[in-house]
Amino acid sequence: FWFLFGRRRRRQGEPPLENGFLPYLGCALQFGANPLEFLREKQKKHGHIFTCQVAGKYIHFLTDPFSYHSLMRQGKHLDWKKFHFATSAKAFGHGSIDPAEGNTTENFHHTFIRTLQGNALDALIEAMMENLQYVMLQSRALKFQPNTWVTEGLYTFCCQVMFESGFLTLFGKEFTKRETERARILNALENFMEFDRIFPALVAGLPIHLFKSAHSAREKLGEALLHKNLLKRDNLSELVMLRMFLNDTLSTFDDMEKAKTHVAVLWASQANTIPATFWSLFYLLKNPEAMRAATEEVQSILESAGEKISLDGSYISLNRKQLDNMPVLDSIIKEAMRLSSASMTFRVAKEDFTLHLENSFYNIRKDDIVALYPQLLHFDPEIYADPLTFKYNRYLNENKEEKTDFYRNGRKLKYYYMPFGAGIAKCPGRLFAVHEIKQFLVLIFSYFEIDLVDSNVQCPSLDQSRAGLGILQPSNDIDFRYRLKCL
Ligand code: HEM
Repeated sequence: FWFLFGRRRRRQGEPPLENGFLPYLGCALQFGANPLEFLREKQKKHGHIFTCQVAGKYIHFLTDPFSYHSLMRQGKHLDWKKFHFATSAKAFGHGSIDPAEGNTTENFHHTFIRTLQGNALDALIEAMMENLQYVMLQSRALKFQPNTWVTEGLYTFCCQVMFESGFLTLFGKEFTKRETERARILNALENFMEFDRIFPALVAGLPIHLFKSAHSAREKLGEALLHKNLLKRDNLSELVMLRMFLNDTLSTFDDMEKAKTHVAVLWASQANTIPATFWSLFYLLKNPEAMRAATEEVQSILESAGEKISLDGSYISLNRKQLDNMPVLDSIIKEAMRLSSASMTFRVAKEDFTLHLENSFYNIRKDDIVALYPQLLHFDPEIYADPLTFKYNRYLNENKEEKTDFYRNGRKLKYYYMPFGAGIAKCPGRLFAVHEIKQFLVLIFSYFEIDLVDSNVQCPSLDQSRAGLGILQPSNDIDFRYRLKCL
């Protein structure tokens, strides 16, 4: 019976195997319901490495952080690109971006590094600082009456402010009236959210045609990002300009496929940043001590930069160096992401090979997946005492600088914080992402008084539907109120 369903038998030298109870699905349902609990249970049963059959794939989970580096350095046997390329094509609907398949010779990885880091990052930060203030103070200005509190959902607020500012920063401004532009971007946000809701299903392999409205939302996002529409916009980022040029010169994509490669960039730039911004602000609002330390740091950096907060239309400007000198906000953002991140790092075996771990080795078969689930690390009480509690200064040392020494079994860890992945496939936008969130917080505290409607509100639980894909969203929104400071 099992043979009919192609169940694998463990061979000598292979990790312990969990085929799961269900034919084909294997462990998929148990894993999907609560990955952390599932993996902890299997770790207790089998030890630091084990194999799970999930929807026809065999995944070897490495759970010992001291073994993580063996995944990073097995370049010869493990492929990081194929899975990413295939997932992107499936989810966003463009043709294959694997140069081996002949549609394009662009090296996407290089494009991203070149346009999201180094000098290009300074320009992104500068544009984002301006756009955030434009969005907070002008684009949303109708909301404000002098001395009047505005009550809103915190997640909704973070979505709108980060999406609009991030969109303007990457895709520039249209030559049109402010109201028309805002309406278009909010409409793009609706389409983005409709599509984002089914993203986990697309990654799991379901065809988009099963989801009519999400499919149409994706097509509308594609329409908005057609090259002919992007050309009507001013201040496009270096990333989008270079990607347009490479689409036109190195690929055989048609117009809609080119647009869909921009939808992929839009999704990558927003899908994790929005919930990460929410969690950073939420934990700050819930922790008065953290809030005090953060506002002190913001005030002192503004003072040393000679920046005055005013509502006369002049914007605050802080450059990259000044933003890099804010260890308290860094620690707060890191801690918020430690608590909410559930990314998964994958590599696919190019051939049968032997995986060497610290004190042992295992045989891995071609096309098997080797994976890390860093939430195990982020919630390990030996590494992070009291792991479910937000401690704003967890990543600060006694000199109030970045803390980098974390230990397990008395040994210093190289990998202790991985919301952005690790190794070659690490998120190329990570520096920009942290700067954006920091800028958002600096500006919120500079211009607004802000608090939770109910200061005793429970921390929302993590919506597990995106487990494996990055920062988890809250399963419900939280009301907060804010008003312009009297400056
Ligand atoms: C890939 C996390 C923000 C651009 C990734 C990956 C993770 C990640 C886990 C996959 C890495 C892997 O497979 O090992 C995050 C988080 C963010 C964030 C937690 C925010 C808090 C951003 C931003 C941008 C961006 C703001 C761009 C503006 C990308 C791109 C990739 C990527 C282009 C694909 C890289 C490739 O396949 O070569 N991100 N990201 N990300 N991220 Fe981010």
